[in-house]
Amino acid sequence: MRRREFVVGALGAGLAASNVLDSIIPGAPAAGGTASASQLRTAIPFGAAVRVDYLADQFDYKTAILEHCQMVVGEGGLKWIDLRPTRDDFVFDQPDRLIAFAEANGMKMRGHTLAWYGAMPDWTQQIASEAEAEGELVRHIEMVVGRYKGRIPSWDVINEAIADHPTPDSPYRESIWQQRLGKRFVELSLRTAAAVDPDVQLVINDYAIENPTGQCRAKREALLNMLRDLKDRDVPLHAVGIQGHLLGDQEIDKDGLSRFVEAVAAMDLEVLVTELDVIDNKLPASTYDRDQIAAATANDFLRAICDVKRPGAILTWGITDRYTWVPMWFTRDDGKPNRPLPLDVNYRPKALMQVIEEYTRVPA
Ligand code: G3I
Repeated sequence: MRRREFVVGALGAGLAASNVLDSIIPGAPAAGGTASASQLRTAIPFGAAVRVDYLADQFDYKTAILEHCQMVVGEGGLKWIDLRPTRDDFVFDQPDRLIAFAEANGMKMRGHTLAWYGAMPDWTQQIASEAEAEGELVRHIEMVVGRYKGRIPSWDVINEAIADHPTPDSPYRESIWQQRLGKRFVELSLRTAAAVDPDVQLVINDYAIENPTGQCRAKREALLNMLRDLKDRDVPLHAVGIQGHLLGDQEIDKDGLSRFVEAVAAMDLEVLVTELDVIDNKLPASTYDRDQIAAATANDFLRAICDVKRPGAILTWGITDRYTWVPMWFTRDDGKPNRPLPLDVNYRPKALMQVIEEYTRVPA
C-alpha cells in the first residue's frame, strides 16, 4: 500500500485525525497534551539503535531516545561476542538493561541478531563439525529467544547472509555457520526461533541493495532467491530488513529498489527499514550541503520503498552524530566528523530527521 493510500484510507474511514492516531496506538494522550515519543502516534513506528552504556550515564542521549523513538534495538549486546564471551557463559546484562528501559517507557525492542558472520567470539572458530555447529546454534537461539519470549516481538534472525559479491554458484557469505552447515543454517535458525517463540516476527536482514550497481543488483537477486527457496519450503519467515546504510555519494536505484520491495511483498513478507544512516565520507565539506544531500538520499530511499509497501518500522543505526559506527570505516579525508544520523552532535534535529518524520508521523 502506498503511504498516501494508508493515510487517506485511515482518514477515509471517517475518523478525525486525533482518533486515527488513537486507533494506531491505543491509549495515546489527547491531541495537545505532552507525550513522550513512545506515546506519540505515528503512522510507521520510528526507532534507533541504542548503546546501553550511554543510556545509563548520558542524560541528553537518553532524552533524545525518549523524545524521538517508539522502538529501540541494541547496537550491540545481543551479538555473540557480547552474549557469549566463553562457550559456557551467557551474559545478558546489556539486553536485560535495554529491555527494562524499553518496557518502562512503553517502547518495543527489536532483537539483533542470532546468526551473523560478524562479532563472533574467538572460541567459535573451534566449532569443528556440522553436528557441533548445529548444537551450538540451536542452543544459542533457544536460550536467547527463550529468555525474551513475548517481550522481543521482532528478531533479526539472519544478518548479512548474502555475499558481498554474490554469484549464482556462491550466493552466501562465509561464516562459521555457512562453512559447517551450508545454507541450511538459515532454515535451522528460523525454525528454531519459531519453535521457541511462535509469535515472534522472523526477519532476514541485509544491506547494499539500493544502488544502481552490479553489486546491488546481484545482492537483490541472491536475496530474493534465498527468500523464494525458503517460502517454497514453508520455512517460517515474516519480513525482510533493509538495513539502509546509504552511500551518500551514490544515487538510489529507485526503480530497482521498488521492484525488489514488490517481489518481497508478493511473497507475503513485510519490509522493515532496520539500520538507516547516510555514509557521508565522500560528500562535500559544507555541513549544510552535506545534510541536504543526506536528507535527499534518504528521501529517495524511503520513497522507493513506501511507494510500494508501508514498512513495519523505520529505525536508524544510532540517533546522534556524536555516537556512530561510521567513522570506524568511513572517515573523511578532510578530517571533518561524519554526520550520518538524524540528530547532530548537540542533539539538534537535522534535515534527515525532517525526512524521517515526513514518513513516520501521521499528518495533522
Ligand atoms: O565495547 C568495547 C569497548 O569496551 C572498547 O573500549 C572499545 C574500543 O574500541 O571497543 C568497544 O567495542 C566496540 C563496539 O562496537 C562498541 O563500540 C567493538 O570494538 C566494535 O567492533 C563494535 O562495532 C560494532 C559492529 O557492528 C560490530 O559488532 C558497531 O558498534 C555497530 O554499529 C556495528 O553494527 C553493524 C550491525 O550490527 C550490522 N549491520 C552493519 C552495522 C554497522 O557496521
